[in-house]
Amino acid sequence: MRLHKTLPAVILMSAVFMVLSVCAALAGQTDGTEINKAVAVLHPTRSNNVTGTVYFSRTPQGIKVTADVMGLSPGQHGFHIHEYGDCTAPDGTSAGGHFNPENQPHAGPDQAQRHVGDLGNIEADNSGNAHYERTDTHLKFDGRDSIIGRGVIVHAGVDDLVSQPSGNAGPRVACGVIGVAKD
Ligand code: CU
Ligand code: ZN
Repeated sequence: MRLHKTLPAVILMSAVFMVLSVCAALAGQTDGTEINKAVAVLHPTRSNNVTGTVYFSRTPQGIKVTADVMGLSPGQHGFHIHEYGDCTAPDGTSAGGHFNPENQPHAGPDQAQRHVGDLGNIEADNSGNAHYERTDTHLKFDGRDSIIGRGVIVHAGVDDLVSQPSGNAGPRVACGVIGVAKD
């Protein structure tokens, strides 16, 4: 007898809960405050001519990084997110070390344990142009470990993906700051 009274109430409450959940999910997608895209414009450090643009876009698989860099020497160049979005020093050292909020060792981009900022290398052709694309699961736009406001550095040399603390990639030839971009 009691079952006949409580069962409809349980079904009604479940239905209300499901409707509220769907509404909350939809609101999260459309409130317009979520960051979906970011950009860093790379400027040359002193006595270099390296310029470029790096886009970061939210995808279901992670943050997609797309970089186009010019003015490089042919070959590989270390490419990282550094702790500070500060390119004021002529040699780029004001950007600090690799962005490493989880206190991990330096490594290659495909290693599970790495600096969040470890994006590996970009490779320039004989004209000094490099194109880089990678969808990365370590990068975040939100929370304490957000990459927004951090620095992007391109190095003169190759990141060996092993040497601590930064892959022995040599001087910094370009620096940029990651800012929020229009979707
Ligand atoms: Cu670096
Ligand atoms: Zn690193």
